[in-house]
Amino acid sequence: MGKKVTIRDIASMAGVSVTTVSQVLNGKGKRFSKSTREKILKLRDQYQYVPDFHARSLIMKENINTIGVLVPNVSEPFFGTFVEGVQQVAREEKLIPLIFSANRDPKLEKEYLEQMVERSIDGLIIASARMTTEMINQALIRRDIPYILFDRNYDQEGARVQTDDYHGGQLAAKHLVDLGHQKFLFLGVNNITENFKQRLAGFKDVLEENGRQFDEDKDVLRTDLSRLGGYHAAKAVAQSGATAVFTANDDVAMGLLRGLRELNIRVPEDISVIGYDDIALDEYVYPRLTTIHQPIFDLGIGATKILLDRINNNNDHEKVEKFPVRLVKRESTAPYHMV
Ligand code: RIB
Repeated sequence: MGKKVTIRDIASMAGVSVTTVSQVLNGKGKRFSKSTREKILKLRDQYQYVPDFHARSLIMKENINTIGVLVPNVSEPFFGTFVEGVQQVAREEKLIPLIFSANRDPKLEKEYLEQMVERSIDGLIIASARMTTEMINQALIRRDIPYILFDRNYDQEGARVQTDDYHGGQLAAKHLVDLGHQKFLFLGVNNITENFKQRLAGFKDVLEENGRQFDEDKDVLRTDLSRLGGYHAAKAVAQSGATAVFTANDDVAMGLLRGLRELNIRVPEDISVIGYDDIALDEYVYPRLTTIHQPIFDLGIGATKILLDRINNNNDHEKVEKFPVRLVKRESTAPYHMV
């Protein structure tokens, strides 16, 4: 048979109803005779029949939700871990997650969002620091799809999971001040979004409260939000004279570690480096990276649970769930020693 065999074909060849085939293939056919069951299973194998997802849920009256997950870049460990959290709930709750990774390209993000709207998506998790709420609403207006925002800590509307970037910046500064550092640098990003602005604001405020000088014009460097970005910034960081650097995220910190090593600058003896996120790789770089922990996996779990609640209970309550950040001390930061 050239064309795809359907459940109807199997039913007609076996001389039984579609429901009978469906129940037998789903292991719920004990009430049918042994010969009927065997006939159906034989036809399935003979024609290599694979059930159609939509048809099966219609026949079995199963409520299987499909959710779209839009992340800026799934190859960034941060978003990979977030997606693992989403998948854990998806497995437990029989959800089908469709993951879209948009390479931090706002045009692609918009395109994917529109594609998801055109498909039978029951809900959406949107992690895009750049897409405005207006853009999202515009794309979703044609269908009333519930959505959850993630990594969008400063939106005033929309259900979301949230962490406190400002506090994260404060924690980083306090740690470096406690170690006695005097000259600081924030290695930020070229396309600065609100979460990074807040990290910087918290960092700067604590430095100033502790009598340290920090001039945003001189003490902030910008690079790409990637390991390569961190690597390329190493020379400028080395020339800045700073003894402590707070990076936009852990990826940037990792590139910086390699760049500094190639310049024979020792971390933490010559310069302390603190990152942001607490991705799993932090334990495996040299030196192990001190960072600000975001509960990334739990954020994935939390976002999916809120979304599921919105889908199942049809509630439009814009729930905001807050998750804590904390300092994780490892080996890339150390007390300041006057040379
Ligand atoms: O690459 C992940 C980083 O970008 C995280 O720090 C997250 O908050 C983000 O916007």
